[in-house]
Amino acid sequence: MQYAKIIGSGSFLPPRVVDNNELAAELASRNVETSHEWIFTRTGISQRHLADNGVTTSQLATKAAQAAIADAGINASDLDLIILATSTPDYVFPSTACLVQANIGAKGGAAFDVQAVCSGFVYALATADAFVRAGRAKTALVIGAEVFSSILDWSDRSTCVLFGDGAGAVVLQASSEPGILSAQLNADGSQMGVLNAAGNVSHGKVVGDPFLRMDGQAVFKLAVTVLSESAKQVSEQAGISLSNIDWLVPHQANLRIINFLGRKLGVPESKVVVTVDKHANTSAASVPLALDAARRDGRIKPGQHVLMQGVGGGFTWGSVLARM
Ligand code: ACO
Repeated sequence: MQYAKIIGSGSFLPPRVVDNNELAAELASRNVETSHEWIFTRTGISQRHLADNGVTTSQLATKAAQAAIADAGINASDLDLIILATSTPDYVFPSTACLVQANIGAKGGAAFDVQAVCSGFVYALATADAFVRAGRAKTALVIGAEVFSSILDWSDRSTCVLFGDGAGAVVLQASSEPGILSAQLNADGSQMGVLNAAGNVSHGKVVGDPFLRMDGQAVFKLAVTVLSESAKQVSEQAGISLSNIDWLVPHQANLRIINFLGRKLGVPESKVVVTVDKHANTSAASVPLALDAARRDGRIKPGQHVLMQGVGGGFTWGSVLARM
């Protein structure tokens, strides 16, 4: 049996850290009222990293990719597949994956983007797993990267305080030892109204609304329902009970969603990786950023079972259960 195993991870955050007090002061100068207290008590977020103007998703993704390649101990030329998840690509085309391929000096393999908003990394990981298990790729780079600040309406306090920028990546390699054990992806396009950035560039002009819009309470309810269902399904599929999961690495949107989910699944807080406090919501980058943080600080160890979960615009959601 052929598996896809995670053999390395890496991440990159833009150096500018903006804490809630600093953000509140900046927004006050634009007559937008918020506070550390409001943001922290409702979301658990205390700071975010923001990219400077002109910094692109491919630049953040390239740094995360290079760190993952070094961690895996491979060469970029070994990669025969690159999948990059983002909602903030550099261009209409080429894909950001192709830009990263050129930046890291990989050649010839497939490279493409997936668009599943905050579920993007989990979608990309499940797709790469399917390629490897089918024998269509041997060594894959999977990236989640965003300059999400570029699609925020800074006059809308109900959304602009929630997000940050960053990138995370993993290298997957074909292996006879168990790696990714099960994966599940879902979408419900009829829920587009709860979360979207419904704009485009057409005939040289922005058409529609280029900024993120969200019905926060509807997202909250949907997220906990679909994530708990999805967790149960992948654990059943893998034959690993939820009590035998060593680490839950959920999408980092909001600490209240994460805690609610943990309680619903019976996973204690000590087994849940949380980075939303420091990174805020980095959309497709949130899961690989959290995974990399917990691998590098020694919490996630080889042989352990890790459940990764994404949820976001579309509406999309999904889970991947991996043995590290
Ligand atoms: N600062 C101060 N006050 C604010 C702010 C702010 N940044 N934003 C909203 N408010 C005010 C509102 O105007 C409202 O005031 P009012 O009562 O006078 O009308 C009040 O706070 C309450 O607003 P609600 O929207 O009802 O606040 P709620 O308790 O629902 O919290 C939140 C909002 C945090 C967004 C919550 O709904 C939530 O956690 N939703 C989950 C969505 C999420 O995390 N999305 C992330 C992106 S999607 C994803 O990644 C899956």
